Amino acid sequence: MMERRVSITDLKAMKKRGEKIAMLTAYDYPTARILDDAGVPIILVGDSLGMVVLGYDSTIPVTMEDMLHHVKAVVRGSRRAHVVADMPFMSYQTGPEDALRNAGRFLKEAGAQSVKLEGGVRVAETVRTLTEAGIPVMGHLGLTPQSLHQFGGYKVQGKTPAAAIRLLNDARALEEAGAYAVVLETIPAQLAKLITERLSVPTIGIGAGPECDGQVQVLHDMLGLYPDFTPRHAKQYARLAESVREAVEAYISEVCDGVFPTERESFAVDESLFSELTSASG
Ligand code: KIV
Repeated sequence: MMERRVSITDLKAMKKRGEKIAMLTAYDYPTARILDDAGVPIILVGDSLGMVVLGYDSTIPVTMEDMLHHVKAVVRGSRRAHVVADMPFMSYQTGPEDALRNAGRFLKEAGAQSVKLEGGVRVAETVRTLTEAGIPVMGHLGLTPQSLHQFGGYKVQGKTPAAAIRLLNDARALEEAGAYAVVLETIPAQLAKLITERLSVPTIGIGAGPECDGQVQVLHDMLGLYPDFTPRHAKQYARLAESVREAVEAYISEVCDGVFPTERESFAVDESLFSELTSASG
């Protein structure tokens, strides 16, 4: 069993061997521990935390401080997984210098092993700056949620030949700039397959078909834990919101009926000590 953390070299080797990469998001210590124990090779602390944990209606309000707080918890909860910190909106769009300062905080203060940022050709210079400084970068193309207002909604990207060629060029630009992997979000499966074949670094799909080198899902979507919305690309492997509600309802009725706690969950002193206590207190 490998004791060190999964590295970007391990991830590139997985693509070469044709081994699929199963990545998941996590935002806190207990889930990071569970994912790490289960053998997930990459944990992404996604800025999706803005929606599934903090209750915003998009990822745009998420701050560096929010992300640092959660990345630290996930790093504490994992020993083997490669932890990727998602760079929040406006932490890198303002240029390579800001990006370097903020990405550096994720490695230095929070203990992440790499960062992820959205965009292709327009962020290639930033990706180069980070990788040359020793900060591994995962790219993110397609339906990049931080550009929600530019896209006019959460829509499938790369559907026209011109848009598909732009995405292929974006993917190539990221690889040339030094990105070690690229997330492809909500694009046609055929385009994801083509990009996967053309890149030597792994592609990680979400709503991008089965031919990517790996897949990523937002943990709350696959566990049925986010009550507001389940995207079409998500498969629910559990219905935890229902289980939690049932457990909470059972607790409420047991407390109200005086069934909980029982002796088993209570603490007692020796009866003689208790009689002394009652007589001493009058
Ligand atoms: O923020 C996130 O969770 C992501 C994944 C959906 C790729 O960026």
